Amino acid sequence: MIGKDIIKAANYLREGELVGIPTETVYGLACNALDENAVSKIFKVKNRPTFDPLIVHTDSIEKAQDFVSEFSPTALLLAHHFWAGALTLLLPKKSIIPDLVTSGSPLVAIRIPNHPLTLSLLRQLPFPLAAPSANPFGYISPTTAQHVAAQLGDKIPYILDGGSCNLGLESTIVGFENGMPTIYRKGGISVEGIEKIIGKVQVKTFSSSNPQAPGMLKSHYAPRVPLILGNIDELIPQFADSKIGILSFQKHFAQIPKNQQITLAVSGDLAEAARHLFAAMRQLDELNLDVILAELLPEQDLGRAINDRLRRAASQ
Ligand code: TXA
Ligand code: MG
Repeated sequence: MIGKDIIKAANYLREGELVGIPTETVYGLACNALDENAVSKIFKVKNRPTFDPLIVHTDSIEKAQDFVSEFSPTALLLAHHFWAGALTLLLPKKSIIPDLVTSGSPLVAIRIPNHPLTLSLLRQLPFPLAAPSANPFGYISPTTAQHVAAQLGDKIPYILDGGSCNLGLESTIVGFENGMPTIYRKGGISVEGIEKIIGKVQVKTFSSSNPQAPGMLKSHYAPRVPLILGNIDELIPQFADSKIGILSFQKHFAQIPKNQQITLAVSGDLAEAARHLFAAMRQLDELNLDVILAELLPEQDLGRAINDRLRRAASQ
């Protein structure tokens, strides 16, 4: 069921059930992070491997201190600057956080989401919420309550409807390797924005068979229809016999039917493009196309995170 009832959402969560929750980045599939039984349901419902750990959501830095054994000065600086917001910090966990949440890692991923409904939900609860994005593993992240309902609606009792996500991209994940700030997943807060606060950071978002952060898995955020990245004008003739969908930044393509193409931001605004990206991929994925042709955006600010998602969507 979809609704705006925070009390109802809180009651299900207290009972150890899963609830879809809105955040400014994407919708989450939430449960009591301190209840291992509830957490195990998340992995089942998402069909997610248990080596892929979950982000813990809370509503204040004071509460975060209850779950984290050490908050370095740099981490605190970032938290003060970007929370509530699209920044996830990897910090040493306290034992109260179950190993299942962190997939056995001594580090917990933690953030304060910036959405009024979810913040007031968190304030009412005596526990933090573990929540991955509310999509089946590997598929596109949901940015509306309806996206969540379409795929997980029959598996969970409630979805809290907070409208469309303002940012539309997952949080930026920052950890500290021997003290060196490291970005493991590009996201809603840009590398440039983080460097303005703490100086140079290293970016390590490569993928491997044993990924440190599975947002790092090469194939992820992917539609079912193959997505090809390149110069769209050059690609179109190569797919002359195919039903083509187009995901472009600013431009329309006269050769392709209007309803088969989506422009992310005619104005060229990267925040607008980010907000539309996942919904656009879903919409194209529903059209029974043979192929989606897409192009990269400028490799700056949010464009870097958008391009990361496009590359992963294209990698199958
Ligand atoms: O914006 C977001 O971060 C959204 C909203 C719901 O908060 N959540 C989200 O969760 O994108 P998920 O599970 O789809 O992606 C979380 C990423 C995964 O790639 C996971 O591997 C990484 O965070 N992660 C979580 N805990 C970790 C840990 N202890 N160590 C390393 N990576 C971790
Ligand atoms: Mg995800």
